[in-house]
Amino acid sequence: MRKAPLSLLALTVAGLLAGCDQGPDQATVVAYAASAQPADPALAEIYQRSCQACHSRGTSDAPLVGDETAWQPRLEQGMDTLLTHVVEGYGGMPPYGLCMDCNAAEFEQLIQFMSHYPDNS
Ligand code: HEC
Repeated sequence: MRKAPLSLLALTVAGLLAGCDQGPDQATVVAYAASAQPADPALAEIYQRSCQACHSRGTSDAPLVGDETAWQPRLEQGMDTLLTHVVEGYGGMPPYGLCMDCNAAEFEQLIQFMSHYPDNS
């Protein structure tokens, strides 16, 4: 389960390609999204069974984990709106993002995790 070397490599490549001021390029974000996990094991378990299928790869319209460009306009709606959208369902996302037993605090932590790239939070 040690993903650190891969992440470090991705970060290094991102730094070389993108320079200092820009975020990672899209290929780097896609690579990060494919394997990223919340640090908290309990949250990671929820993420794996609920959100990961849609938010870790570009197979739906879901904003990718770590794709800050995609998340920025969504974050600007405010956390309350994001939580409402997750609970009620939004576009292609089913109600509760398929986590029926999640509470608001857990959703908020998942959104924080998914909407930030670790190098650039
Ligand atoms: C079945 C696929 C699917 C699952 C599972 C899923 N999502 Fe999504 N999610 C989407 C799609 C598609 C969108 C974009 C919807 C749109 O903009 O029309 C989205 C958008 C979002 C948004 C942005 C809403 C907004 O107002 O812009 C948040 C926050 C979010 N998801 C959180 C989660 C969380 C947290 C989980 C797990 C508990 C989860 N999603 C699980 C498909 C999914």
